[in-house]
Amino acid sequence: MSKTLVLAGCGKMGEAMLSGWLERGMMPSDITIVEPNEETAAKLHAKYGVQTHAAPTDLAADNDPDFVVFAVKPQMMDKVASQYARYAGPKTAFLSIAAGKPVSYFQKNLGDDAIIIRAMPNTPAAVRRGITVAYPNALVTETQRRACDELLKSVGNVEWVDDEGMIDSVTALSGGGPAYVFLLVEAMAEAGKQAGLPDALAERLARETVSGAGELMRQSDETPTTLRINVTSPAGTTAEALAVLMADGGMQQLMIKAVAAAKKRSEELAS
Ligand SMILES: NC(=O)c1ccc[n+]([C@@H]2O[C@H](COP(=O)([O-])OP(=O)(O)OC[C@H]3O[C@@H](n4cnc5c(N)ncnc54)[C@H](OP(=O)(O)O)[C@@H]3O)[C@@H](O)[C@H]2O)c1
Repeated sequence: MSKTLVLAGCGKMGEAMLSGWLERGMMPSDITIVEPNEETAAKLHAKYGVQTHAAPTDLAADNDPDFVVFAVKPQMMDKVASQYARYAGPKTAFLSIAAGKPVSYFQKNLGDDAIIIRAMPNTPAAVRRGITVAYPNALVTETQRRACDELLKSVGNVEWVDDEGMIDSVTALSGGGPAYVFLLVEAMAEAGKQAGLPDALAERLARETVSGAGELMRQSDETPTTLRINVTSPAGTTAEALAVLMADGGMQQLMIKAVAAAKKRSEELAS
């Protein structure tokens, strides 16, 4: 990957991407981090050998990156995005991973000639098992799209959509999805404790079951429905549990409500 980039914001997601890029062969000298948190910046410099700056005004005047990547919290974006408007033009593509910030928002802050890709990754990116969905604006060239695909693939799988409206649903499903899975582990552990298991054992069983089932699903060609049926003997113990989970108002309906609530919040963040 012989690209240069500026990464604005290097917290959880930013660092996951940074380490993925370096692992894929980008040189630390090709990456400049803008991160006002002094402690975080010092840690990043020591760990990865990348240059860090407190603000975009500290970037060298001749810095002409292929990508500016926005990985700050959506709430910070009003302060951040417009500070990079000087890079708008045919050379630099802006890649934003911020929840709820549409392409039109970046156009407003960066100018109509800004090349923008809006993407939504998720935290398994930290172990290169993320899933990112990306949407390009009309100015993104095929070469930039391929380069961006490569950047995003360094932390997992990538899908592209040509309808930006889908990104709010993606945010609600896969963006926040890891939290739903961790909640499932917490809920299973608590249920195990209430069923009489010692705390540590219940927590270990819940964690191993969810991560093991995830790995089984990843390696299997079967659908999740078939894998579920494979665990469920007729009139057996699992069937009893599933009758509760799949009853009216059960897991499916709760999940539909939860994802709809997250989607609504993503839409609200855009305004
Ligand atoms: N976490 C997720 O599951 C997830 C999933 C998909 C997408 N995203 C998106 O990814 C983005 C980053 O999320 P995150 O979880 O990585 O957040 P985070 O850990 O809080 O990282 C954001 C980083 O940006 C820094 N920052 C604050 N102001 C800045 C500025 N003016 N210029 C440059 N950097 C600045 C923050 O420093 P301080 O710590 O000092 O504030 C922090 O280090 C968000 O827009 C979020 O919507 C997150």
